[in-house]
Amino acid sequence: GAVRRPLVMANWKMNMTPDQVEPYLQQVIPEVNKDTGADVAVAAQDLYLAQMVKETAGSRLAIAAENAHWTDDGAYTGETSPKALALVGVSYVLIGHFERRKLFNETDERVNLKTKAALKNGLKPIVDLDEDLSAYAKEDKKTIVLKQLKIALEGITAEEMADVAIAYEPTWAIGSGEAASAEQAEKSAEFIRQSLVNLYDQQVADQTRILYGGSVTTENAADFLSQEDIDGILVGKAALKPESFLKLIDIAQ
Ligand code: G3P
Repeated sequence: GAVRRPLVMANWKMNMTPDQVEPYLQQVIPEVNKDTGADVAVAAQDLYLAQMVKETAGSRLAIAAENAHWTDDGAYTGETSPKALALVGVSYVLIGHFERRKLFNETDERVNLKTKAALKNGLKPIVDLDEDLSAYAKEDKKTIVLKQLKIALEGITAEEMADVAIAYEPTWAIGSGEAASAEQAEKSAEFIRQSLVNLYDQQVADQTRILYGGSVTTENAADFLSQEDIDGILVGKAALKPESFLKLIDIAQ
């Protein structure tokens, strides 16, 4: 998209050992600081986040959490507070990633609560929508994505949408090595943008970044990023090596 600044985000998931964190960041920061036109962020497991924020202080590299709870504090053993994430200096948070939905029973309603809690605390949520192949038999994929989008954004104002990005990940493309075609992904991104026009207005739809995720590589990233409605990439496997993430950043700029 012409007016939207691309966002390139690494999602480490539950990977990387403590000794790998600093060298990765040190390798990536100088490139990101050249700022040739894209926003760049790394999402990591909670354990590393405070350290990552310190190591990236004063740089253009932003840090993201992979999940957060929907209340600020309280008796929720083992959960992470969005308030604490924001106070530590984390910038973004992934909400409703496919793996959260599938493996940890995250519902659309929880995604909505978590998105609102993130915004309230000044975190920028990346709301993840996915298409599950098994659901294709029952409903068409547009219905599935639209339902997720609608519920996720319920009660979120047009003003708040300035801090929200949407990520679209077809489940069959996640970690499979089988990415969607750029045309397929663009069709879905276009549909999501049109849905934002319907839910909000043209201005919100025009400003909202829509990311594609699912087996993005240094080979196919340019195809996705050149699509009209795709404003960024959310990258798992291909972002685990700093060399490869650097290439992806380069492609986006
Ligand atoms: O969040 C991004 C992720 O789900 C895609 O993973 O390994 O297919 O790039 P991967």
